[in-house]
Amino acid sequence: MSAGQPRLDDARHALRGLMPTDALAWYEYLRRDDVTRDTSWTRVTPQRVAELIAGYGGPQGPWRWAIARRADDALEGTIGFNEVALEHGRAELAFDLSPAAWGQGLATRAAQAVLRWAFQERGLQRVQATVLDTNLRSRAVLERLGMRCEGTLSGYRIVRGAPRDFLMYALRA
Ligand SMILES: CC(C)(COP(=O)(O)OP(=O)(O)OC[C@H]1O[C@@H](n2cnc3c(N)ncnc32)[C@H](O)[C@@H]1OP(=O)(O)O)[C@@H](O)C(=O)NCCC(=O)NCCS
Repeated sequence: MSAGQPRLDDARHALRGLMPTDALAWYEYLRRDDVTRDTSWTRVTPQRVAELIAGYGGPQGPWRWAIARRADDALEGTIGFNEVALEHGRAELAFDLSPAAWGQGLATRAAQAVLRWAFQERGLQRVQATVLDTNLRSRAVLERLGMRCEGTLSGYRIVRGAPRDFLMYALRA
C-alpha cells in the first residue's frame, strides 16, 4: 500500500497488518454463532480464513488490519475495507471483535482510526457500510461514528440460504 498504515492511539491495542499466523485466532471467534449470526459470513474454516488473510493489502484493496493487544500482539479483532472502488473514491467498512473484547469501545476507536486514514491518506470521499438490519451492535458502532443510515437494501444478500435486508450507512469525507 502506498499510503502509511492507520494508527490507533490506544493504550492497550494497536493496528497492524494481518499475518498468516493470525488465522487461528481470527477463526477461533469467527467460528462462533454469536459472532457471525448477524453477518453474512459463511463457510468459515481455518483454511478459508488463511486464504482471506493472503488476499489483503494489495494497492487496490481489499485492506484489513489486525486489532492486536499491545501486551502480546495477539489478535482480538480485525477491521478494514472491502469493495474498494478507487475510481469512485469509495470503500466499504467491515470489522469484528472477539466477544472478550466487546463492550469497551474498541471497534469504535479502531473504526475512527481507519476512517481518518481512508479520508486523509487515501483520499476516499465516501465510506459505506452494509449491515444486516438485525445487527444492533454493529449499527450502534456505525451510529457512534456519525455514519448516516441511507435506507434499506431489500433482499440485498442471500445469507445462509435466505435473502436478507441490509441497511446502507455512509459517511462522506
Ligand atoms: C460489531 C462489534 C464489533 C461491536 O462491538 P462492541 O463492543 O459492541 O462495539 P465497541 O467496541 O464500539 O464498544 C461499544 C460498547 O462499549 C462501550 N464503551 C465503553 N467505552 C467506550 C468508549 N470510549 N467509546 C465508545 N463506547 C464505549 C459502549 O457503551 C458500548 O457498550 P454496550 O456493549 O453496553 O453497548 C461486535 O459486536 C462484533 O464483533 N460482532 C460480530 C461481527 C459483526 O457483526 N461485525 C459487523 C458486521 S457489519
